[in-house]
Amino acid sequence: MDRAIAIQVSHLTKTFDGHTAVSDLSFEVYSGEVFGLLGPNGAGKSTTLRTLITLLTPTSGTASVLGHDTVREADVVRQLIGYVPQERAIDRFLTGREHLELLGALYHLPKAEATKRIAELLKLVELEEPADRPAKTYSGGMKRKLDIACGLLPDPKILFLDEPTLGLDVQSRLRIWDYMRMLKARGMTIVMTTNYLDEADQLCDRLAIIDKGVIKALGSPTELKIGLGGDIVSLTLKDQTKIPTLVTALTGQPAMRAVKATPTGLDIRVDSPEKALPAILESANRLDCRLEFIEYHRPRLDDVFIAHTGRSMTESVQDIQTG
Ligand SMILES: Nc1ncnc2c1ncn2[C@@H]1O[C@H](COP(=O)(O)OP(=O)(O)OP(=O)(O)O)[C@@H](O)[C@H]1O
Ligand SMILES: [Mg+2]
Repeated sequence: MDRAIAIQVSHLTKTFDGHTAVSDLSFEVYSGEVFGLLGPNGAGKSTTLRTLITLLTPTSGTASVLGHDTVREADVVRQLIGYVPQERAIDRFLTGREHLELLGALYHLPKAEATKRIAELLKLVELEEPADRPAKTYSGGMKRKLDIACGLLPDPKILFLDEPTLGLDVQSRLRIWDYMRMLKARGMTIVMTTNYLDEADQLCDRLAIIDKGVIKALGSPTELKIGLGGDIVSLTLKDQTKIPTLVTALTGQPAMRAVKATPTGLDIRVDSPEKALPAILESANRLDCRLEFIEYHRPRLDDVFIAHTGRSMTESVQDIQTG
């Protein structure tokens, strides 16, 4: 199927003082899809997004939005897009409505049109009732809804959202997912970053898995999972000092596609669990590796991430938090 291309990124590299934040990224975003950049902290998601919205200039490579180069035609690009940053400064004194009015003035929207659009947007994100309260009194979820209304104010063709639900409670996340689905249904193209696997899985038509500034895999969540081939058997061992022994014994056995140690046991990718499970149990018995728990599942996005980066998304997040 031929699909219209909304965004074209070609060999994009961005370095900050000699440090490469993203390296040689190439991908396209199709019109009308939700496209995600999924990766752990520091992967280069915001840098990529900020380059697309013309806030950063590429060190090398190019990006175009609806056919307009983000450097040479930055002014045109800015008129076509809306942006919801990872963190927006909410003014202590302004109300929700005043935030939108200020932004409307920045966009040079005629007053009457701005008033009408602001009323519509406040309704859309369910902030009509608290609209005239200072925004500093809003909850995290309400602030995020205000951010989204701000991003939608210019009536963009493409909406960019950086970590739309970071730190929100479950209810607020679900509401924001609903808005994004509704905007997509209205024909909007959406580009988002996230470090939540479930968010990428639920919302994105296609996604790029990005790690250390490099795209490791790209496709629909289903394609990426199928692309792994096989299912996952996860073992938890009673005695974790036996993990390397069992990894060695299973690696290379015909029923095992890939064997990887985890903090508590092993993750084994298998073509056919009927063949693999007896072989796994046999090896474990023979080597006196007592199993505490066996779990078997179809590939999840985390498995895709592990297969392409050698570690788990959740481990990567912990790495950052603890060290
Ligand atoms: N303005 C800047 N100056 C210097 N280094 C920067 C700048 N912006 C980003 N970086 C670096 O570039 C790398 C990628 O950062 P980026 O913010 O794009 O990651 P991210 O994937 O959005 O992470 P997070 O999930 O934490 O938001 C990091 O090493 C970061 O320190
Ligand atoms: Mg970021």
